[in-house]
Amino acid sequence: MSTVFLNGEYLPVAEAKISVDDRGFLFSDGIYEVTPSYRGHLFGWQRHMQRLLKGLCELRIDQDVSGLEAMHHRLLEENDLLDEETALVYLQITRGAAPRTHAFPKDPVPPTVYAFAKRWRRPSDERWERGFEAVTVPDRRWGRADIKTVSLLPNVLAQQASVDAGVDDALLIRDGMAVEGAHQNFFAVFGGTLVTHPASNVILHGITRGYVLEIAREIGIPVEERAIMTESMKYADEAFFTGTTTEVRPTTRIDGEPVGSGEVGPVTRRLAEAFRAKIDAFAADSEIAAD
Ligand code: PDD
Repeated sequence: MSTVFLNGEYLPVAEAKISVDDRGFLFSDGIYEVTPSYRGHLFGWQRHMQRLLKGLCELRIDQDVSGLEAMHHRLLEENDLLDEETALVYLQITRGAAPRTHAFPKDPVPPTVYAFAKRWRRPSDERWERGFEAVTVPDRRWGRADIKTVSLLPNVLAQQASVDAGVDDALLIRDGMAVEGAHQNFFAVFGGTLVTHPASNVILHGITRGYVLEIAREIGIPVEERAIMTESMKYADEAFFTGTTTEVRPTTRIDGEPVGSGEVGPVTRRLAEAFRAKIDAFAADSEIAAD
């Protein structure tokens, strides 16, 4: 049975219990973070923590984050994931448990801090080469999609719409723009230029998105952060999603229509390879540093 972290304790998952008064349960009053681990090393740790701190600040939740890195490592260790090629740690912080009132509790209560670790698997090379299919879904989220709140019902319904359609991913459409996926950021390639929605309030500022943009600039791929009109997707040569556990994932069909040639394109391939090389170098460097 897996070991999880709850409010300072490491427990078998079946023994981890939260109050029915928890504001995460009652109001989705909390945030979360998902950090990838490659061979036991947390990739992008500082960036994930910066985003968490920003979320805590936006929600005005007072939580010390100094012990979180050690906690993440311990969870990987306790769950035998240190040698695993790909794993993740999920962390959730809610405002805590208090009798139900919409406004914050008058007397502050300790936040609820919960985390678990698990493995995930990349698609096989053969599966990746075939490309993935997405369906467009209206974006029903609130106006602060940049905060990583646990309020994910529109994302849940969008992802389910993709399952119901028998495809892999959901592409969220807001005001005629393809903004991002249900749990990934979205990129398209037009005539060799990489395009993705700007890091505004309508998308989550993905850590993987940030790395991919940096890599693209490093290797000389022109980049534009601007809206992608859904209508213009018929002129796109390539498209892909990015995210923790998604990495760089080619989208070769949208709503049944091929994107460009309908094959995985060269820009997607270059970026996926460079991203993987960055991870491999990170894991190798971390191993040397640990010796
Ligand atoms: N999802 N956009 C949305 C709406 C997301 O939920 C996520 C992450 C991303 C990609 O962000 P990052 O590159 O930092 O993982 C973009 C996580 C993994 C999840 O909900 O499980």
